[in-house]
Amino acid sequence: MQNIWALQTEAQNTAPLETSLDVQPVSGALGAYVRGLDIASIDDAGLGELRSLLHRHKTVMLRGQSPELTHAAYAAFGRRLGELAIDPYVEPPIPEHPEIMGLVREADATHYNFGGDWHSDGSYLAQPGGLTVLWGKDIPPYGGDTIFSNMELAWEMLSPAFREMLDGRRCLHSATGLGTKKPIARKGDYAAINFGHELEVIEHFHPIRRTHPETGAHSLYVNQAYSVQIEGCTEDESAGILKFLFDWAASPALTCRMVWEPNTILIWDNRNTVHYAVGDYGGFRREMYRLAVTGEEPR
Ligand code: SIN
Repeated sequence: MQNIWALQTEAQNTAPLETSLDVQPVSGALGAYVRGLDIASIDDAGLGELRSLLHRHKTVMLRGQSPELTHAAYAAFGRRLGELAIDPYVEPPIPEHPEIMGLVREADATHYNFGGDWHSDGSYLAQPGGLTVLWGKDIPPYGGDTIFSNMELAWEMLSPAFREMLDGRRCLHSATGLGTKKPIARKGDYAAINFGHELEVIEHFHPIRRTHPETGAHSLYVNQAYSVQIEGCTEDESAGILKFLFDWAASPALTCRMVWEPNTILIWDNRNTVHYAVGDYGGFRREMYRLAVTGEEPR
């Protein structure tokens, strides 16, 4: 069994990156608050630094963005990170930018909190999301944080015997996840659903040990929202193992809590993290704009 303290040190504190930016790690496990990077004017060098920061910290919050940031500049920044996905089930709030998804929760809303369970974006797709970008446009005065878990640490901290049992196995990820607790149709709760697009069940098998395509690091690739069945196991065996892995991934020492401020952009890597949108801001409005950078088939 690996030692969590040593692994945390490796994850967040190894030789400082060459950077002129103000970088403040958020927890021992992952996450950093970054100042000094303006997404509207970022150059290639800045983009390179951002990629290095994402490799190191896995999720970064870019503070101090311009209050004048436009949707066009936001989408243009997203395109510099990669190809942007368009969700066919959701009517875009800004028709000229169909790649921008609006996540708005009004102060008096009582419905399901979008993202309010541990997940990795679109893990049920053949090519799940790579990076996700979230722009906090209207932030509640408290609450509404986004919490993350470092799935590389989650993999490393498993015993060699348990890793050996999981290694080479695949898990089925389904869009209906959680035993259909919140099928895709529930999206109508938080965004204008496109009723013209027929609902379908999307599911794919992915390896439980995932290798990051850029860093080569291994991570545990299952998540509570969408991972439903381990290949080759009985339903009972699979349910027991997945329950253990979901609880394991939520261990506090593997997590960080990203706290929103106005004029902030959050970016995370879905390949080596899971995240959870905390629904604890009843009585306040929260308005976010989300971009999903297409990823690759997990290996
Ligand atoms: C998400 O899960 O994509 C949304 C996260 C958030 O709203 O904090």
